[in-house]
Amino acid sequence: MAMRQLLIKNINQLVTVASAGKPWKTGTEMRNLGVIENATILVENGKISAIGSEKDLAKSILKDAEILDASDRVALPGFVDSHTHLVFAGTRENEFAMRAEGKTYQEIAEQGGGILSTVKATRQATKRDLKKLAARRLDDLLQHGTTTVEIKSGYGLDPDSEIKMLEVINDLAKEHYTTVVSTFLGAHAFPPEYKSNPDGYINLLCERMLPYIAKRKLAEFCDVFCDRGYFSPDQSRRILNEAARLGMKIKVHAEELGPSGGADLAAELHAVSVDHLEHITQQGIDGLKKSGVVATLLPGVSFFLNHGYAPARALIDSGVPVAIASDFNPGSCMSFSMPLMMTVACTHMKMSPEEAITSCTLNGAAALGLSSRVGSIEVGKDADIILYDIPNYRYLAYHFGANHVATVIKHGTILEFS
Ligand code: NIG
Ligand code: FE
Repeated sequence: MAMRQLLIKNINQLVTVASAGKPWKTGTEMRNLGVIENATILVENGKISAIGSEKDLAKSILKDAEILDASDRVALPGFVDSHTHLVFAGTRENEFAMRAEGKTYQEIAEQGGGILSTVKATRQATKRDLKKLAARRLDDLLQHGTTTVEIKSGYGLDPDSEIKMLEVINDLAKEHYTTVVSTFLGAHAFPPEYKSNPDGYINLLCERMLPYIAKRKLAEFCDVFCDRGYFSPDQSRRILNEAARLGMKIKVHAEELGPSGGADLAAELHAVSVDHLEHITQQGIDGLKKSGVVATLLPGVSFFLNHGYAPARALIDSGVPVAIASDFNPGSCMSFSMPLMMTVACTHMKMSPEEAITSCTLNGAAALGLSSRVGSIEVGKDADIILYDIPNYRYLAYHFGANHVATVIKHGTILEFS
């Protein structure tokens, strides 16, 4: 194959988030973004091959190289959104209005709304319609700087509908520019048919759905909503042990609605990540640190549901690798904007802008086991690079509610949006 080169020059500020081979950053290292002023990047066949000054790189450039003048823009790695529920049908603005009147997320769920209302709409949707909706959302995410995204099933809750969702996710992974990671979340809620027979649903998950999904490699991860009113630690353990036995990696939704024991379970099972953690205790934090589990915080959920924030400072200061994701879904966070998540993390969780950037890039990649490929701008990694029309990187989370993306480069290709 002929060598395809792209030279990106005149970058005012290049935020590399370089980690020199480490999968994530922890503690004070999270503030070290490896910023280079007046930088040039050379990309070869979709991978970053050199970073330096224009003069340094001149000798490596072929005659037919594509040249992109960044015109003094700021470059960051593409965002890695490691937790979304982006495949869904229907929307829930009625619940948003009910919360404005004082109802809580749990009250709305108990009255038949919540996850189960999206399950109803998603079961009814065709695979084709679901895929069209999701592909458009992925385009939107790219235009807002997200180049890698994890997507969960979990709005089907029966074998056919869960498989329909996973097939959509796998089709998107093959056909869309975005790097897509698939997660099976059959244990998102108990479906109405199994309301009075929870063990029956766990049997269905373990004996029918998981083996089929593992055999057809429809999901890399298995996740469980281990929380008050949803799956208990014992039920979650059974599902996750079975998934691990079948070769799947583990994630856990935990400690969102109350102290659930989910963080201890994630530590016990050596999950790749445990997500939410609004109610995690110091004991839970120590467990995560010991077993090297990434803590994925979802500030958009706390903001949107107005229910309190995860203890980001205690987690970071205890040395746990912290990631931030959007949790984009129609119920608890109808936003996929990673800069907005950073703004909320800085204003409500007392994270520094530098920690927020590390959490949305390198540490997000770690939450997907992908940090050898994406999450930082370093030689050998995929050239997933976003140019922003901002004076410096701190401006990104500061000027919130606007899209500052100027150019999206995915795997070395400059994307055009119509
Ligand atoms: O991650 N917490 C559980 N599940 C989603 C919410 C899904 C929904 O409300 O539709 C979450 O917040
Ligand atoms: Fe979620």
